[in-house]
Amino acid sequence: MTTLLEIRDLHFGYGATPSLLQGIDLTVKAGDRLGIIGDNGSGKTTLLLLCAAVLKPQRGTITCLGQSVVAGQFQPAVGVVLQQPADQLIGATVAEDVAFGPENLGCPTSEVQQRVQQALAITRTAHLAGRVPHQLSGGEQRMVAIAGVLAMQPQLILYDEPTAFLDQRSCGTLIEFLRADTTPGIIVSHDPAFLRTVCTQILLLESGHLHPLAL
Ligand SMILES: Nc1ncnc2c1ncn2[C@@H]1O[C@H](COP(=O)(O)OP(=O)(O)OP(=O)(O)O)[C@@H](O)[C@H]1O
Ligand SMILES: [Mg+2]
Repeated sequence: MTTLLEIRDLHFGYGATPSLLQGIDLTVKAGDRLGIIGDNGSGKTTLLLLCAAVLKPQRGTITCLGQSVVAGQFQPAVGVVLQQPADQLIGATVAEDVAFGPENLGCPTSEVQQRVQQALAITRTAHLAGRVPHQLSGGEQRMVAIAGVLAMQPQLILYDEPTAFLDQRSCGTLIEFLRADTTPGIIVSHDPAFLRTVCTQILLLESGHLHPLAL
């Protein structure tokens, strides 16, 4: 089975928290969607940012589809839904924002439009297409941010607390989408019931280590 992501002996810390991650081993294969749970400040977002090549490991290796992940280098195969959706919305309108990814991948205009419409439909945000992203509610921004990632058709998707800001209906839309979507990935969440519904395995990040939990 194809290995999408492989992390070996990963160590990372910041000045004030030098031993945040102390030897993380993790493998994401085709068909896997790993849920990660852990206390505030345990390093969940940091771990996703390392996988997304935003941060550089202090020790250990991260490989994506067999290639070393190099911090600062764009990884088109990896989609990231950030913890704060406003951090990834840059377009003047929602439609332009969702188009930004496929445009930068060099897709022809007709394909860009097709991908935008598809992503807006899946996330039930088509009615927001002409709106200014920064004027949307937190939940609307979250769904648009997910649409922007889907439009890039990544092979691996990393979600950082995707249910934050979502009402029951949007949460239902997200769960419905995640159940139908087979893209492998990692979901960080504080909601164990949500993770049980949409993940193949759940891990607890505690004291710098990942521990498997029963589903
Ligand atoms: N850029 C940074 N510089 C210094 N310290 C940081 C930085 N980013 C995060 N930290 C610290 O590292 C620790 C882990 O942060 P991180 O955001 O990874 O936690 P988290 O598990 O995602 O928490 P939450 O559940 O609150 O989102 C925290 O103590 C945080 O204050
Ligand atoms: Mg976090």
